[in-house]
Formats: sequence, C-alpha cells, structure tokens
Amino acid sequence: MNILIMGMGYVGVATALLLTELGWQVTGLDPNKSRIRTLSHGVLPFYEPGLDEMLRTHLASRRITFTSEIGQAIDDNEVIFLCVGTPSGSDGSADLQFIKEAAESIGKHMQGYRLIVIKSTVPVGTNEQVVQWINQAQPSAIPFDVVSNPEFLREGSALQDALEPDRIIIGSDNDQATELLRSLYKHVNGPVVVTKPKTAELIKYAANAFLASKISYMNELARLCTKMGVNIADVAVGIGMDHRIGPHFLRAGIGYGGSCFPKDIHALLFTAREHDVDLTILEKVVQVNQTQALYYMNIWEQLLGSFNGKTIAVLGISFKPDTDDIREAPAIGIISKLLENSAVIRVHDPIAKLPKSMLSKHLKQFDSVEKTVQNCDAVILCSEWKQYMTMDWEQLKRRLKQPYLFDGRNMLDGAQMTAQGYHYSGIGMSW
Ligand code: UGA
Repeated sequence: MNILIMGMGYVGVATALLLTELGWQVTGLDPNKSRIRTLSHGVLPFYEPGLDEMLRTHLASRRITFTSEIGQAIDDNEVIFLCVGTPSGSDGSADLQFIKEAAESIGKHMQGYRLIVIKSTVPVGTNEQVVQWINQAQPSAIPFDVVSNPEFLREGSALQDALEPDRIIIGSDNDQATELLRSLYKHVNGPVVVTKPKTAELIKYAANAFLASKISYMNELARLCTKMGVNIADVAVGIGMDHRIGPHFLRAGIGYGGSCFPKDIHALLFTAREHDVDLTILEKVVQVNQTQALYYMNIWEQLLGSFNGKTIAVLGISFKPDTDDIREAPAIGIISKLLENSAVIRVHDPIAKLPKSMLSKHLKQFDSVEKTVQNCDAVILCSEWKQYMTMDWEQLKRRLKQPYLFDGRNMLDGAQMTAQGYHYSGIGMSW
C-alpha cells in the first residue's frame, strides 16, 4: 500500500519514517521546496536522535521519497496522513487553515477511494469538518473515509515512542476504515483502542493537559518544599510508588515548554470556553507554569544579591534535552528576565541555537561550557542535557567569578555540589 504524508514538520517526518520502517512505501509532501530538497538529501530539518540514520537508510532503498507535487501525490497514494501544523491563534484557538487547505486539495485531486488519517492535533469536531471540506471540494462524489489517529510521540524519543507506543488510538465510524488503518500498524508493539472520532480528538488534548497538570502540581508543591526544607524529589519518589499515581512526570523544575503542552492546553481551554465550561484546574496549571521560573528567579536573585550588572551563564536553552526546539522554552523567559535586570548573559546548549536576532553584546552564545562560564557570577541550568550532569564541576568552578549554581531541573546532587564549594540552589530542595 502506498502512503502519503502531508506536512513534513516534526510529526510528519517521524510518522513517515515509522511507516517506512514498518515496510510501507511512503511519500512525504510539503509545499516548502527547500525542506523537500534537504530531506531528499538525507538531512533532517530538526535534531532527533536516531531518525537521521533511518532517513538515509530508507532513502537509499527508495522506500521513502519527498515531493511538493500535490496533485500527483494524492493521485498516487491510497492512504493519506494529515500531519500539517495547527498553530495557536491569537485567542488560543487552534488555527485549522492548513488542515482545510489539505482537505480541499484531497477533494480536488482524488481519483479513487482514499483513507484520510488525521494525525495533527485538532479540536474536537475537526474530523466531521474535514469530511465536509473534502465533500465540498470534490468535482464529483468519490468515496473516502476520515479517521482520527492522534500522535503521542515525544521529541527526543520519537523512535522508541513510535515503535513501542503505550497505545494507538483510532477514532472511526467505519469498520473497514478502522481495519485498514489497523493493518498499517500490525507490526507495532502496542494496544489499539478503537473509539469515536470526537473521543479520539479529545483523548489527545486530555492526555497532554493531564501530564502538564502533574508537572504544575509538583512545581507548586516544590515552592512549599523550598520554604519548609523538604526535598521535592523525595516526595515524588514517595507518592510515585502508589500505582494509582505512577512515577512519571513528577519532576519539579522551571516549568514545561515546547510546541505541544502550552499550545494544546490553550486550545482545550478555548474549546471549553466555547461550550461555556470552566476548566478551572487547567487554568491554574497554566498560571503555575507561567510563574514558576520567575518564582525561582526571585529566590536566586536574593541569594546573589542582584542580577544587575552580573554575568550569568545559562546552560541548556532547548525546552528539554535531546531536541533543538526552543519554542516556549523556560530558558527564553529566564534570559528575558536577566536582560530586563541589565545582566550580561552567556549561553550554551549542546544542539539548540538562539536566533541571531536575539544575540547582542549583552547576550552571546558559546560552543563550549568552559568558555560560557568564564568569569560568570552564577550558572543557571535550564535543561537537563546528560553532558551537564557528567561534567567536571570541580574544574568548572575555577573559571567562575562566584560559585553560584542555580539548578532549574534538579539535575545535580545538591549535597555534592555544596561539598565542592558551590552555593547551590535547586527547585524545592533543602539547599
Ligand atoms: C508531549 C507529550 O509528552 C507527548 O506524548 C505528545 O505527543 C507531545 O507532547 C505532542 O503533543 O506532540 P513533548 O512536548 O515532546 O511531548 O515533551 P515532554 O517530554 O512531554 O516534555 C514537555 C515539557 O515538560 C518539557 O519542558 C519537560 O522539561 C517538562 N517536564 C516533563 C517536566 O518539567 N517535568 C517532568 O516530570 C516531565
């Protein structure tokens, strides 16, 4: 079976490579010609461990190809995955412009039956809307099915998540379409849940919002731990052993970021407002996240005396390790706050780069941690790259003007750092 993936962003490329790995013939489609050229040369438009190697292997065996020719691509492929972006509108709603354009193109160009699979994160009711858009664009009636199949991949561990998912959700009203999609995933090791399209759409938002709620709950509790001299990481171990709570997503820090949690929660809140429902817990989840980094910046500022005129090293600018994505990264808010306070900032990240437009004589990025921390008054750790956990902190201390170490991800051992002479402060810790 030939499969077309529309939209070569993060989810589209990862889905295309997974389906190729499962043995299908896959075409990746995107209107951005330079992106198509790059992919055709075996280069990923983003950083993701393991995927670049997979791309080159499948290009060599010609199991995957890339194109911008939409009419031909829709004509050649029986199954079409929609992986186009659904960015946030100014009111928090998900902007469905790219979904609409894709649906209209499918309606216009399809010559025979097509199974359309919605992978993009879309508001409840979008499946029905896509059916209408395709119907309206068809010159004459040709049968098709639209199923909802939300994606649960995490950036940085896409490969493992795709090959061994916790579940595959199929939202479908049609048994034949369900079985066709199920057959595409037959070699994936994970349970399949079949449900209604609207339910599948809500499951995606509900899952992200629930995970974000766990994080904000721990982050707020961490503030109390800081005041009481209790270690939040120990609390997380203690509560996580209760199988009703579970050990994951209990790590306190400077807040969640990325292209998914913030955007999806705003979209869910928008949907709830449209239906006159107050999701008050979720509103607080957002509020805690928006204030978490600032809460700890105030504490660290007091420890240091002031940020004014100080030189501060910021290590790790991506929203989490193993990705080059800095969208909604807490580090960016921290850098803005430091700039407001007239600090000089020296930044490092193993992969992610600050946009050139942000750089100035007060904000510079360096390619080694040693250079970055030279003569700094304090180091702020913003994402837990392995490299930072295994560095020789004793050596690094000699380069600092003052040994203040602010650990925004609780990635180092506070007792050990204190013993090495650092003024160490983490999130919800007794140091
Ligand atoms: C998230 C979901 O985990 C995926 O299941 C989903 O498919 C994806 O969004 C999406 O909707 O596309 P992702 O944003 O890649 O994946 O990253 P996560 O690993 O979930 O981390 C999100 C943020 O939460 C990061 O900033 C991370 O540092 C933070 N986090 C995570 C914590 O602060 N504490 C934790 O215990 C876990």
